[in-house]
Amino acid sequence: MELDHLKPIADVDVANKRVIVRGDLNVPVKDGKVTDTTRLERLVPGLRDLCARGARVVVISHFGRPKEGPDPALSLRPVAAELGKLLGRPIQFVPDCIGPVAESAANALGPGEIAVLENLRFHAGEEKNDPEFAKKLARCGDLYVDDAFSAAHRAHASTVGLTHVLPSYAGPLMLEEINALRTVLEQPQRPTAALVGGAKVSTKIPILKHLINKVDKLIIGGGMANTFLLSHGVDIGKSLAEPDLVGEAHDVMAAAKHRGCAVVLPEDAVIAREFRSGEAHAVVPTLAVPSNAMILDVGPKTVAHMTQVLKECRTLLWNGPLGAFEIPPFGEGTFALAREAARLTKAGFLVTVAGGGDTVAALNAAGVADDFSYISTAGGAFLEWLEGRELPGVAALARAQA
Ligand code: 3PG
Ligand code: MG
Repeated sequence: MELDHLKPIADVDVANKRVIVRGDLNVPVKDGKVTDTTRLERLVPGLRDLCARGARVVVISHFGRPKEGPDPALSLRPVAAELGKLLGRPIQFVPDCIGPVAESAANALGPGEIAVLENLRFHAGEEKNDPEFAKKLARCGDLYVDDAFSAAHRAHASTVGLTHVLPSYAGPLMLEEINALRTVLEQPQRPTAALVGGAKVSTKIPILKHLINKVDKLIIGGGMANTFLLSHGVDIGKSLAEPDLVGEAHDVMAAAKHRGCAVVLPEDAVIAREFRSGEAHAVVPTLAVPSNAMILDVGPKTVAHMTQVLKECRTLLWNGPLGAFEIPPFGEGTFALAREAARLTKAGFLVTVAGGGDTVAALNAAGVADDFSYISTAGGAFLEWLEGRELPGVAALARAQA
């Protein structure tokens, strides 16, 4: 995939053109209110720029996973309203993404005006990447901009199909996300470290296998580290683990050694008998976990050692928490190391890129998200990139004709 072939919309004269922007408005909503506006905030600068340059902007997105046809609970209406607030201007909401209602709304837009169309997934053609559906979407625009890196792992009509029908360009958020990942994985300042945490090793094995070819140090934490400890014959008591994957863990360790990638595992742990708030807990070496206890976080020695590793590195990729951070006090290990990473970043010693799944929530809880060099808005797409997989949305854009 030729990433250098991505064509930025910034270079194009968009004045008076109808520009379809594929955003990712798939944000958490509770009782009709957006509870985390990060993805919207990150989309705003690109939309503002298009408006300022006189484009007539038609925003499209999926929202949730509607099963069959329109589902009022998954309407983009409240999300469009929130986007309007962030933009500081009214946004028209259009109750369908294709057909006469969508086309006439797009045609009626004046330069600098924005409309948000209803959830793409209300039509089966979206997820099927149906060329006919893509053509119907295309009737609302003269140009197509993909600014939804976080949906680029889906080969859908709005992420792939449209690139076959309209002149296609990359939006600024798309480019920013790709650049951040390339900074860490393709042209990093060395030495580089990847921190991979989270509960389940099964979902992360392909990532670990890819990363050991890319980074100098691999830091493993979270529940998934337990399977690695198990693979070393360590008794981990009642801790969460996936014994079936002990062989895979072994393979990762052997391949890392072969590659000269140092693997850092927890050496002490915060343990408790049960996973619940307020449960009595203690710090023990990982070699001394009682049989009736479970590992819920890394201990202070591990944090100190991992901090030392970060001090020796210039670049850090962070994915996943080091412990069960949702329940106090089992987030302390994650928070402490995240603060160290933030401190090194602010001091100019470390480039820090984080993303994928629970990661941003953990860094937000640590209060340091703003101090990292880059926080991705992507979950699944970020993880697939870390696996070394080609993202269909990015590949389609790279191949598309402008
Ligand atoms: C996400 O939130 O990861 C993206 O918006 C993609 O959503 P999906 O997993 O429902 O395709
Ligand atoms: Mg997802």
